[in-house]
Amino acid sequence: MEKQEIRTFGRRHGKKLSARQLRLIDTVLPAISPKNIKNAGNLILEIGFGAGEHLRDLAIRNPGKIIIGAEPFMNGVASLLSAITDDSDGILPEYAGIRVWADDVRIFLRETDLQFDEIWVLHPDPWPKAKHEKRRLLTGEFLSQLGERLTESGQIIIGTDHHEYFDWICEQVKKTTLSRQNTGINMIETRYQHKNMAGTDAPKYLVLGK
Ligand SMILES: C[S@@+](CC[C@H](N)C(=O)[O-])C[C@H]1O[C@@H](n2cnc3c(N)ncnc32)[C@H](O)[C@@H]1O
Repeated sequence: MEKQEIRTFGRRHGKKLSARQLRLIDTVLPAISPKNIKNAGNLILEIGFGAGEHLRDLAIRNPGKIIIGAEPFMNGVASLLSAITDDSDGILPEYAGIRVWADDVRIFLRETDLQFDEIWVLHPDPWPKAKHEKRRLLTGEFLSQLGERLTESGQIIIGTDHHEYFDWICEQVKKTTLSRQNTGINMIETRYQHKNMAGTDAPKYLVLGK
């Protein structure tokens, strides 16, 4: 029997979606499903894309690549769909490479054997209370699973402004065969980071390779 996984995310639904957003979820979301993608290289995955600012930036910086975003929070998915479509609900050309999995990324990874050049996780939920720590996504076990889905020179890029979670992730990395690489990354500010700027530290980044 399959092990029951701990839920790593909070709400799936927030404030009421607009009529346009509901329509985009009905029509555009199924059309950009990542289900039938083949392992033909040039794939990037972003886990927990929130409202999708960084996912869109990835698409613009990587024309010709397929950018898969996984996010179970439907208001975030709806924000992304609004931003990548025009008034006639057509996908804007610069976002043609975007595919969306509107659910837990672990289900997606179980259902495919795709390998990625880059796997991004920006501001994963830190679950700071001790009783919630078990909900943290980036355990050694999960990081090892991500490592198996990297291409030979592929990288996992993690960023968080929660320094205690950052240190915890670094400890988790020691349980894996992944190696730490130089960061040197040029980052845009995501919505989560912007909202939290006043009360938090500067984000720290971790880049991992095979
Ligand atoms: C704190 S938010 C950060 C969002 C975005 N990366 C940003 O920086 O604005 C963390 C996001 O990770 C998502 N998340 C948590 N667990 C996930 C999982 N198992 N699969 C996919 N997304 C997940 C949550 O729904 C949430 O939107």
